[in-house]
Amino acid sequence: MTTALAGRVAVVTGAASGIGSATVAALRADGAVVAALDIAATDAPADLFVPCDVAEEASVQAALQRVREELGPIDIVHANAGVCFNGEGEAQDGPAHELELEVWSRTLAVNLTGAYLTVKHGLRDMLERRSGAVVLTASVGGASFGTRHLAYSSSKAGVVGMARSLAREYGPAGIRTNAVCPGPVRTPLSVMARSSGEEYDEWIEGIPLRRIGEPDDIGRVVAFLVSDAAGYLNGASIVVDGGMTIA
Ligand SMILES: NC(=O)c1ccc[n+]([C@@H]2O[C@H](COP(=O)([O-])OP(=O)(O)OC[C@H]3O[C@@H](n4cnc5c(N)ncnc54)[C@H](O)[C@@H]3O)[C@@H](O)[C@H]2O)c1
Repeated sequence: MTTALAGRVAVVTGAASGIGSATVAALRADGAVVAALDIAATDAPADLFVPCDVAEEASVQAALQRVREELGPIDIVHANAGVCFNGEGEAQDGPAHELELEVWSRTLAVNLTGAYLTVKHGLRDMLERRSGAVVLTASVGGASFGTRHLAYSSSKAGVVGMARSLAREYGPAGIRTNAVCPGPVRTPLSVMARSSGEEYDEWIEGIPLRRIGEPDDIGRVVAFLVSDAAGYLNGASIVVDGGMTIA
């Protein structure tokens, strides 16, 4: 527990599970008052839970308005909600020649348009106060990825580009933006977390730290990125993958 974020109001999307839920906990542990936004309900501790579909502008706008009314002006935004269609029995992301337009569109709508809408409606108070911090959850998949993830890796490459554009655009207004790029993390979204036996061992072999990431490994990095300790970090894409993508 620290007081690094005392007095700040934060919003985290995709907060009902995995990385978002861990980030809510990390921000609260550092003293922030945190609103958890998600399309799914959750009992995970937060100062306020607001149902929100990040792919729908009216939903994002209404959710952020409610945060302002109940918690006050927003200082920190973590646009984290994401989907990855790669599980058994689910729609499959894919090589381009097999990828259904519906899967492509939904992936881009949540991962990329969702980040844009969250930032669009989350920046207002920061602009007025000329101070704030934004973190977007990208992925190591935004820079390099295996096969069968065309929509996901395209969306995450877009998120990295968005973080850089925002950093340039809003840096002069005192608002820092960075992306966090997790490697495999133990959440329902991760293919690796769902694998077992030899397949899992092969994954682990490819990670110098020889373990899958835990949601809190990412949450604590986000808490650092939005803190004053990271006051000169702007436009960076911070890879948190146990060394998996070291060339
Ligand atoms: N787990 C990994 O290995 C990994 C690796 C790299 C990046 N990421 C990214 O981290 C972020 C969080 O994923 P996670 O691993 O915690 O997965 P998760 O499935 O545990 O959590 C994702 C959350 O996003 C929510 N969500 C989905 N669609 C939404 C929508 N339209 N509006 C609002 N909320 C929505 C879900 O309900 C869920 O609570 C995602 O952007 C994901 O792409 C995850």
